[in-house]
Amino acid sequence: MELSGKVVVVTGGASGIGTGLCRRFREEGVRALVIADLNGEAVAALADELDAVGVTLDVRDEAAIAAMVSEVEAQFGQIDLFCSNAGILNLDGGDFWATSSANEVWQANWEIHVMAHVYAARACLPAMIRRGEGYFLHTISAAGLLSQPYTAAYATTKHAAIGFAESLAISHGDDGIKVSCLCPQAVDTAMLGGTDGGSAGIDGILSPAQVAQAVIDGLREESFLILPHEQVEQYHLNKAQNYNRWIGGMRKLRRSMSPPKLP
Ligand SMILES: NC(=O)c1ccc[n+]([C@@H]2O[C@H](COP(=O)([O-])OP(=O)(O)OC[C@H]3O[C@@H](n4cnc5c(N)ncnc54)[C@H](O)[C@@H]3O)[C@@H](O)[C@H]2O)c1
Repeated sequence: MELSGKVVVVTGGASGIGTGLCRRFREEGVRALVIADLNGEAVAALADELDAVGVTLDVRDEAAIAAMVSEVEAQFGQIDLFCSNAGILNLDGGDFWATSSANEVWQANWEIHVMAHVYAARACLPAMIRRGEGYFLHTISAAGLLSQPYTAAYATTKHAAIGFAESLAISHGDDGIKVSCLCPQAVDTAMLGGTDGGSAGIDGILSPAQVAQAVIDGLREESFLILPHEQVEQYHLNKAQNYNRWIGGMRKLRRSMSPPKLP
């Protein structure tokens, strides 16, 4: 897909990777850009700067997603690309790491990382299928392919997001629907305590602008997996080839890491 002349929606667009995508989409010449985020002040400021439509919403609210999709379709005729990008990160803690997060935290991860993608697809698919084309970009994570230490709720729901994206691509590919999963490792955003363009001091960390470039390339190739960190492809292969060995390697990695500090 080429972005020029397209109508694009980005959730979680007011910060980090979402903002990087919005800036880059504008440079690529999209016809209309709609930025949705929980953070109303930040979304209004970015929409103003990028001559975009800003929408304050919670992606957990299906009615709000459906209303936004209807309004965008009414105003601009269609949605060509819907980017479900909003996300949250919490770290495990305590004595029982993998189960330590409260049920409310698991539920929030499920709703934001999975159900929000379902709500967007449910709202967009009817018009896309009628037109015979439409594209979903899901910002997931390398953690959706490869679980990582100390982030059980995050990694579990990101795996589920990959599962939903696969279902969408398989069920609706013949209707002209394209799906890409953006699966980076560390990116320098507020989520990792960094500031856009600064450095959170993590090895191999990419900037949101570098990730946005990988997205432009991946959308052009219509690639199901978009992997800004190239090594993720080999890690994923290693896991598929020898699951036991991969778990052993990840256990070794966990032993080498200091546990996250409890809040
Ligand atoms: N930063 C990384 O290292 C990294 C790596 C892999 C994947 N990701 C994924 O990238 C996506 C973007 O993360 P980021 O690093 O830019 O983080 P970020 O914290 O900078 O931005 C996340 C944005 O999502 C918004 N948001 C959160 N919950 C929301 C909700 N319920 N409704 C609407 N908006 C909501 C926030 O207000 C914020 O603007 C997430 O899905 C994240 O899991 C991030």
